[in-house]
Amino acid sequence: MKIILGIGGGIAAYKAAELARLLMQQDHQVRVVMTSAAQQFVQPLTFAALTGQKVLTDLFAIESAIEHISVAQEHEVLVIAPATANLMAKLAHGLADDFLTTLYLAFTGPVVIAPTMNVNMWQHPATQANLETLRRRGHRIVEPDSGYLACGMTGPGRLADPETIADAIAQETQKRRDLEGEVVLLTAGPTQEPLDPVRYISNRSSGKMGYALAEAAAARGAQVTLISGPVHLPAPRGVEVIHVRTAAEMREKVFDHLTPASIVIKAAAVADFHLSKVPDQKVKKTAARISMELDPTPDILAELGRKKGDRLLVGFAAETENLAQEARRKLESKNCDMIVGNLVGGSDLGFESDENEVILVLSSGETIPLPRASKRVIADRIFDEVLTLRLTLHSANGH
Ligand code: C5P
Repeated sequence: MKIILGIGGGIAAYKAAELARLLMQQDHQVRVVMTSAAQQFVQPLTFAALTGQKVLTDLFAIESAIEHISVAQEHEVLVIAPATANLMAKLAHGLADDFLTTLYLAFTGPVVIAPTMNVNMWQHPATQANLETLRRRGHRIVEPDSGYLACGMTGPGRLADPETIADAIAQETQKRRDLEGEVVLLTAGPTQEPLDPVRYISNRSSGKMGYALAEAAAARGAQVTLISGPVHLPAPRGVEVIHVRTAAEMREKVFDHLTPASIVIKAAAVADFHLSKVPDQKVKKTAARISMELDPTPDILAELGRKKGDRLLVGFAAETENLAQEARRKLESKNCDMIVGNLVGGSDLGFESDENEVILVLSSGETIPLPRASKRVIADRIFDEVLTLRLTLHSANGH
């Protein structure tokens, strides 16, 4: 594997030499990038000798003005060890004033960060907030160990062992390709059901959960089609996005794309009712009460449940009460393999938030609570469980 090893300016920079050697012994190609502070602790020559490649140090002393882009494209994983408080702050906020931080912005693969610093610096709310930002972005943080620190204090802040960091790299990179060969069909966002040419019924769904699922699936190697209701989100990289407006249009596009799909996830908040005969003209304002008769929309998930074949089918349940019971009832009535349940209404989580806290109700009988995390992290956990569930179902069926 081709690994970029970014080294920050902490006393633990010398330990990165051991990490570089271990990764080389594991038959990886390692390209080292050092910040200027890192070079105060260890000479680039040490790493050049260990890796057999020139060390990248200065944004302006390189062969080409776009070398940070080509290095980013040519490598599969970016490891930052040691990551200092300053370096993490720069990464969290997107500052790009040297080779490593610029490369970080240009890099699109998995990122592993191993921090090290003084206990008080580690525990400072600013550092913890930056750490949380990086974690939510989907990066793997290899927590520092507790122990005696170079500053004379004892506590968390010591760089994790090279073996622990190497294991984290292996896990991150393996995980990223475990959906290769899968065809994932996803729905996301609300639907809009017109009441007349200018008005509609809709709901508060932002589409963020479904888009995070699409992003996660594509990053892990799946071929992804996303049928999206009206949302304000950019198309995730490598995902085919099909835009629809109403539940009826969503149903049509889902069944148009169903045949090759091996995993179907319905994260859309489909409207439950619509006006089946929409007036051609705008309804006039009157002083009197008006009423409208709404008909149920097609239940796409239930129909998918009836036609599911060998596919793995995942639905969502947004509830304001009795979450677990409602989720299990939906799982059974719609013939799903998993329902992702989230409580909506009273909390700041769920619909419009970047974070979520859900339970996974599985056809194996298990219920798995996923603690509060970014929707991107939740998306990866959902795919982890989808893959485990498939193995369980296959072995139960004697495959
Ligand atoms: O029964 P309820 O609408 O609460 O179930 C939610 C799940 O069903 C979600 O996965 C949603 O995408 C799906 N659904 C659907 N078609 C509808 C309504 C909901 O596919 N008309």
